[in-house]
Parts: sequence; C-alpha cells; structure tokens
Amino acid sequence: MDNPLQLSFVNFKKDSYIIVEGKQNADRFFIIRSGKVRISKETEVVDEDTGNILGPGEFFGVIATMSNHSHIETAQAIEDVTLISVYRDQFGLLIEKNTPIAMKIIMVFSRKMRYLDEALMRLTLKKTGDNDPSHLFKVGEFYARQSQYNLAYFSYYQYLKYCPTGPDVATARDRMIKIQPYAKAVYLDGSNEEFNRFYPKDTMIFPEGMPGTELYIIQKGQVKITKIVGDSEILLAVLKPGDIFGEMSILENKPRSASAVAFEDAYLLAVNKANFERMVKTQPQIVTRLTTLLSERLWFIYKQLANTLISDPLGRVYDTFQMTLEKNRVTLKPGTSYIFDFGPKELYGMIGIPPTEGTMVIQKLLENNKIRLVDNKFNVLDLAEIEKQCEYYRKMQKIERARRDSQVLR
Ligand code: CMP
Repeated sequence: MDNPLQLSFVNFKKDSYIIVEGKQNADRFFIIRSGKVRISKETEVVDEDTGNILGPGEFFGVIATMSNHSHIETAQAIEDVTLISVYRDQFGLLIEKNTPIAMKIIMVFSRKMRYLDEALMRLTLKKTGDNDPSHLFKVGEFYARQSQYNLAYFSYYQYLKYCPTGPDVATARDRMIKIQPYAKAVYLDGSNEEFNRFYPKDTMIFPEGMPGTELYIIQKGQVKITKIVGDSEILLAVLKPGDIFGEMSILENKPRSASAVAFEDAYLLAVNKANFERMVKTQPQIVTRLTTLLSERLWFIYKQLANTLISDPLGRVYDTFQMTLEKNRVTLKPGTSYIFDFGPKELYGMIGIPPTEGTMVIQKLLENNKIRLVDNKFNVLDLAEIEKQCEYYRKMQKIERARRDSQVLR
C-alpha cells in the first residue's frame, strides 16, 4: 500500500502552456501519456534532433529540472494532453522502479549532446568535426604543430592501432620516432587491471575518434574536454572531482566525441562497460548522477549556442563569463570579486576565435579596470560589471537585429 513514488497525472487543455522558457526553478518534468506537445525556444539556434512535436512516451523539461536551472524551452499542448509529472526529488525512486525509462533519457541526451556539439562546431567555426578513427591522425598533427607532444604521441599511437592500413601510417610512425624523447603518455593501451588511474598534468586520457570502452569518474584533479576542428581547438568543458566523462561512447557504441586531457594531475576511476551495467543495477544512483550531469552539459551547450549569435566578440566574452557564473551557480552580488578557472587561451577556444584576433579582444577587455589577469586566469573585481556589460551587448544586439529586419523589409 505504501508507495513512496506518487507520480501524478496532469491534464492540459489544447493550446495551454505547460512550461515557459526562462521561468526560474524548474522543479518537475513531464512524460507524455497521451496527446501532443510543441516545444519551442525564443531563439531557435539549431533545429532539434528530436523534432519540435513530441508524443506519447517522450519527455520534456528534464534538462532544466535535473540541472536545477531555469527552463530553456516552452512547451504548449497542441491537443488535449495527459502527462505524468515527475519532481526532481522523485527521480531517484523513479529509476529504481523503472530503470529502462532512465536509460532511455540518458541515451536520448547522449545523442542530443553529440548532435549539439557538432552544431556548436559548425556555428563557431563554420566547419564540422569528424569522429571516425582516421581523425586520430589529424588530432596528432594538430598537437604536434602546437608542440604538445604528449597529446600528439598518444593520438598517433591510437591512429596506428585503429587504422593500421590507413593512408598516413608512415607519416605517423615517422613523427612518433621524432617526438618520442619529448612525449609522456600513460595507459596507451588502457588497462584491464588498474581501475584507479593516475594521469599526470597535460597527458592524454583519450583523443576524439578513438573507440571507447570505459567511462571515468574524476577522484582528484581536473580534466579538459576539447575538440579539434580544422586548425582550432575548442574547449568544451573543464571537469572537476565527482564529474563523469566518457559515457557517450559507452552508451552509444560510438567513437569518442571529444578528447579528454589531464588539465592538472588527475586521479580517475575507470569503469568498463560490464562494470557500468552492473553499477546501473546495483547502484541506480549512478543513472541519476549521469542524468544530472548530462542535463547540466546540455543546459550549458544551449547557452553556448545562443552565444554564437552575438556578433561582437567582446560581447561574446562577457556572455561567456555570465553563463559560466550561472553554470557554477555564482550569484552576481555587486562588489564581489571572482576568479575564473580559465584564461585567454582557453577563452579563444570557448568562443572560437583565432589567437591573433583573440589577443586584440583581450586587450580591449583588459581596458576595463574591473577585469584583470591573475596567474593567467581572468579575475573580475566586481561581478555587477558582468551583468552591466551583458545588458549593454544584449541591447546592441537587439538594435542591430531590428536594423537588419527593417532593411529586409525595405
Ligand atoms: P565520449 O564521447 O565517450 O568521449 C568524450 C566525452 O566528453 C563524452 O563522452 C562526454 O563525457 C564528454 N563531453 C562531450 N561533449 C561535452 C560537452 N559539450 N561538455 C562537457 N562534456 C562533454
């Protein structure tokens, strides 16, 4: 009789709004039982991979609810609908009772993440990346040019391993011999015995395009997630202790969607597919943790996508500061100072500008006396300044859009 998981059914009439974009404190999401729902965003930067009309068995509102941020979409009933409502704190119980639905959510999210990563590359660099193992050679070449030999060596090694008859095998071998004296690489072939791994700072955990057999939980240290597209390296995220990464390959059986590099000395727990499947059964909390993490990443990538629409690079810089603060749940209290965990080099990668252009943008940024560099990391002396600047650039953007629209009409 005592059923702690009291999911309720809720009905919405045709045309009514179920969730509204921007509304703070999303605390529940919905699974559609019957009827259809239209999902929309104020600025549609990319078409959704899942389409905009959802039907029975599909869900919405999970990203905002599970990441505990404001809603990123609006949902409207396009016919009378019946929904199952799930509050954030019920999620743990839901998956204990119904692991398949939770697995479905993380699978859909994993695919969405891959799709949006690609969209972000296309919008920031007007190019797409590719993920098959032949890409490993390009990753090696990129890092060799940057004299980051640890990363280059690891990538060439994997290229030879996974594309032994590829067109660039001879070059890769040649390069490896040359850079070997300067290259530090650990676990080149993974390890079936050591689940507790130590990756020294600036060594490769895996390069994008490599087949993946494990996911990782960070015990100590930080890990950078990056992607090479053309001649640029895009920084997707800096991950911290407690974070999980490498799950997308495991879930989807696809090559690594991005590279993972030890940003500091990193201690990781490696979990292979068999252990992961066992963990899902015995510790379903890991699925809740993954849903939360994927929700946080998806929430952030939607912000990154919206960032690409700001035409002034300095505006993009301030917006990047603001979304990072929001992601880290820092309130913009006037008069407080904050040190970001990234500096100019990472910032270029985040907003996709070449270092030559980037230097000029940073010079202009540092003309603002509330912003400076401390140990090569950005330090904002008054957080209110970020809000003020973002407001200014949003206003400019609106004016520009209005001018453009009126030109179209003329
Ligand atoms: P996988 O594709 O196995 O390998 C690369 C990992 O990087 C991926 O799994 C995710 O864990 C992580 N990842 C991919 N895209 C992002 C992103 N945009 N933000 C944070 N982490 C990401």
